[in-house]
Amino acid sequence: MAKSFDVSPEKEGSMLNFFQRQLTQTPEVVQGVNLEGKTAIVTGSNVGVGLECSRRLLDLGLSKLVLAVRSEAKGQTALADLSKGRNLKEGAIVVWHLDHSSYDSVLSFVEKTKTLDRLDIVILNIGIMTTSPKPNPNTGHEETIQVNYLSMALLAILLLPVIKSKLPEQQGPSRITIVSSDASAWAKFKERNEVPLLPSFDRPGKMDMVERTFVSKLLGQFFLVELAKRVPPTVAIINASTPGMVHDSQISRDTAQTFSGKLAEVFRRRIGYTSTVGARMITDAAVKHGEETHGQYLNFQKVKPMAPIIYTAEGERIRDQLWKETMAEFSFAGAEDIIKDIRN
Ligand SMILES: NC(=O)c1ccc[n+]([C@@H]2O[C@H](COP(=O)([O-])OP(=O)(O)OC[C@H]3O[C@@H](n4cnc5c(N)ncnc54)[C@H](OP(=O)(O)O)[C@@H]3O)[C@@H](O)[C@H]2O)c1
Repeated sequence: MAKSFDVSPEKEGSMLNFFQRQLTQTPEVVQGVNLEGKTAIVTGSNVGVGLECSRRLLDLGLSKLVLAVRSEAKGQTALADLSKGRNLKEGAIVVWHLDHSSYDSVLSFVEKTKTLDRLDIVILNIGIMTTSPKPNPNTGHEETIQVNYLSMALLAILLLPVIKSKLPEQQGPSRITIVSSDASAWAKFKERNEVPLLPSFDRPGKMDMVERTFVSKLLGQFFLVELAKRVPPTVAIINASTPGMVHDSQISRDTAQTFSGKLAEVFRRRIGYTSTVGARMITDAAVKHGEETHGQYLNFQKVKPMAPIIYTAEGERIRDQLWKETMAEFSFAGAEDIIKDIRN
């Protein structure tokens, strides 16, 4: 994990800095890359940032796009939208079912990816922000942690052997980009001293769900660092990025119903980017960078620090603990063996 950045994690992670960036900077349109012949998966690609990443990948010449979505109908609408004005080959865009609320769905999805000829790019974009905690009916985990962290992490791990098996067809490693958030740095993360950590998120009771969203994204950053340590960049270059604050996606579909949520929406509309603009940062992270971004976070198309806690001794302890617990959670899917084998 590179520790020399042009800005300190504290400064980069401050709200002041975030709003300054958001108000004064606009990410650049991603260009100068030819994705002809390449295959990509974008999860949660029927709307918002995922849809706009998909559009740009196609603009850059992508030959095959898998829209990994939980609603076939919404996926088909996105497919029709993305196809407009393009002369695409039959099957260039496909809609495959993926529901992060179900590990079985993640497993079935991964099974299907084995049929792909190659797998150059994966954008792990699915995310939610809710107003109240809800246990996942299948796993018992609180849904935000389930969707934003656990199922994302399981999918990333299970795709690794698939990616490795496709490498002979490709001219280099695949790219996996996790859609993260600057708000990871704002998590109070009161559960930080809990042992074990993962079950502490499932305790019933009143919960600040905005904080929970931030924590779920922070867990993704801890995971990224540990995963990148174990996966050779010759197999997959794994990084993360943020779309910044986006105003026209559906991320606040639940929170916008509350009074404070309505206020936040006014603010979001004033300073947020469109999904098209926010998606530039994610697409950039997925297609324009190399090994120097393995295990790193990109913001405004440059490597920047993640949340400050990532770089502390406390963060190191939590990373280690979270990794072990995550591996135990995924023992049913042989995650530990997959990680061991990926180096060989
Ligand atoms: N918007 C922002 O300001 C912002 C800022 C920082 C980071 N982000 C991150 O950017 C990513 C995209 O967000 P967005 O703003 O584009 O939000 P969005 O418009 O709500 O898109 C979220 C996508 O995730 C899908 N999804 C949600 N739960 C799912 C589940 N259980 N299984 C499968 N798919 C599921 C949604 O599908 P349905 O349409 O079927 O629900 C949708 O396709 C998220 O990871 C978010 O945390 C957003």
